[in-house]
Amino acid sequence: MTTVESAPATPVILGGTRGGPDKPTLRKDRWWVSPVVTVSVLTTFVVYATWAAFSNRNYYVGADMHRNLISPFYSPCLTESCVPGSHPATVITWWTISPALLILIFPLGFRFTCYYYRRAYYRSFWWAPPACAVADAHVRYTGESRFPLIVQNVHRYFFYFGLIFNVILTIDAVRAFQQPGLGLGVTVGTIVLCLNAGLLWLYSLSCHACRHLCGGGMRTFSEHPIRYRFWKFVTPLNARHMQFAWMSLIVVGLTDLYVRLVASGTITDFKLF
Ligand code: FES
Repeated sequence: MTTVESAPATPVILGGTRGGPDKPTLRKDRWWVSPVVTVSVLTTFVVYATWAAFSNRNYYVGADMHRNLISPFYSPCLTESCVPGSHPATVITWWTISPALLILIFPLGFRFTCYYYRRAYYRSFWWAPPACAVADAHVRYTGESRFPLIVQNVHRYFFYFGLIFNVILTIDAVRAFQQPGLGLGVTVGTIVLCLNAGLLWLYSLSCHACRHLCGGGMRTFSEHPIRYRFWKFVTPLNARHMQFAWMSLIVVGLTDLYVRLVASGTITDFKLF
């Protein structure tokens, strides 16, 4: 019988070909399901978000419909081209194309450099490797220690920008309770915006950079009781970062779609009370 101790070690040569069997994989399970799902969902999101960002219309439901709903792709809308009512003030006058193209740099940069998404798209798009115990599609492992992938280290700064956007989208969700001409109320749109803001907070607070900010670089927790409390709060969230990443991605896309359908008159934003 071959045991772990007696099995011959597979030679690994840094900078050379990966170790492993002489065939793509010996796995018999459906290891390919995860990469296929990842490619399908991320491609769908990127195609939809690109179309929505360039469309530059139907991103705000305003007083003419007794609502105050703005798509997360277009908030904060601060350019001169923003539709009336969708923005508190015009701050940027030189930007004349879709305001979403200016805004989405930050949330998309946050997602693109996310440690979890990096694992997901390196595996599913780049096949490096596509799954555990499956052959790598690339001969050499170059890591993230040099250009261009070293740029992924800007993630922590995108995290700070992400927090600012979370505050803005939370304000949007609160403002959605106010229905011009009708007073305070709750509609399906209000709940959609609240759900979106809540999931974005969970995604940000479960971020690895957030956990490091709370508890990283400390020798002893006892000397930093406040940071220790934050660290204890975010650690269980961090364990679910993958789930929050997918849920918030899908819901942010659906939130834009919902606002778009209401703004275009395709559906009615049903008032609950
Ligand atoms: S690690 Fe995923 S958002 Fe920071």
